[in-house]
Amino acid sequence: MKEYDKRWKEQENMESGLRTLIDERELQLLKDANKVLDLGCGDGLTLAFLVDKGFDVTGMDYSEVGIANAKKRVSKKAKFVLGDIYQPLPFEDEEFDAIIAYQVINHNTIEEIRKLLKELHRILKPGGVFSVKVSDWTTYGYNYVDGLCYDEFGSILKPIGERTFLPIAGWEKGVIHYDFNKEILKKEVEDAGFELLDMRNIKCHILGNFRKK
Ligand SMILES: C[S@@+](CC[C@H](N)C(=O)[O-])C[C@H]1O[C@@H](n2cnc3c(N)ncnc32)[C@H](O)[C@@H]1O
Repeated sequence: MKEYDKRWKEQENMESGLRTLIDERELQLLKDANKVLDLGCGDGLTLAFLVDKGFDVTGMDYSEVGIANAKKRVSKKAKFVLGDIYQPLPFEDEEFDAIIAYQVINHNTIEEIRKLLKELHRILKPGGVFSVKVSDWTTYGYNYVDGLCYDEFGSILKPIGERTFLPIAGWEKGVIHYDFNKEILKKEVEDAGFELLDMRNIKCHILGNFRKK
């Protein structure tokens, strides 16, 4: 069973903490969008919000429990794809007007994240919005003790490469995390063919809005 299956089983309807709904700024950016991909939709908190706003939403996640919970949450029709986002994505070129990816693209090594960003560029329409939220632990000031890093939720994170951590206990045990900062996020997403619109910190995360050139 995937770690995230356990999490979504234990935390059905968890709505607090670090989770963000689409803010006014993102709604403004999405105003001309119709088809939206929620990458790593989890239990569908953001996805259900977008469905209620009238968007044609597709959610993708590899957690069966997450998707099952998301299906219960949506009031109207939405599409779901169960699969690994680090494999070639099962979508057409330029299929989406916008992509939302909150707390998901950072779940691998930087090499795999670069391939994913190219895939996201491929499936987004020119001019389409890519809104992405990733962790930024080192800037936020997570504590290191004896070479391990501890987050505020009780995860113990073992460094396995530059800015790359493997949680060895806690919710996300076994799920690699790449720790971005604003400069790295800007560079990596721009290198994949996007331009930066704006960026802000949300506690230990960064939310960046980009547009496909
Ligand atoms: C921290 S949760 C964020 C969920 C949601 N986007 C939100 O903001 O509340 C990360 C989600 O990414 C999914 N995920 C992680 N790695 C994945 C992968 N390789 N392929 C598909 N989904 C993945 C997990 O199953 C989980 O639902």
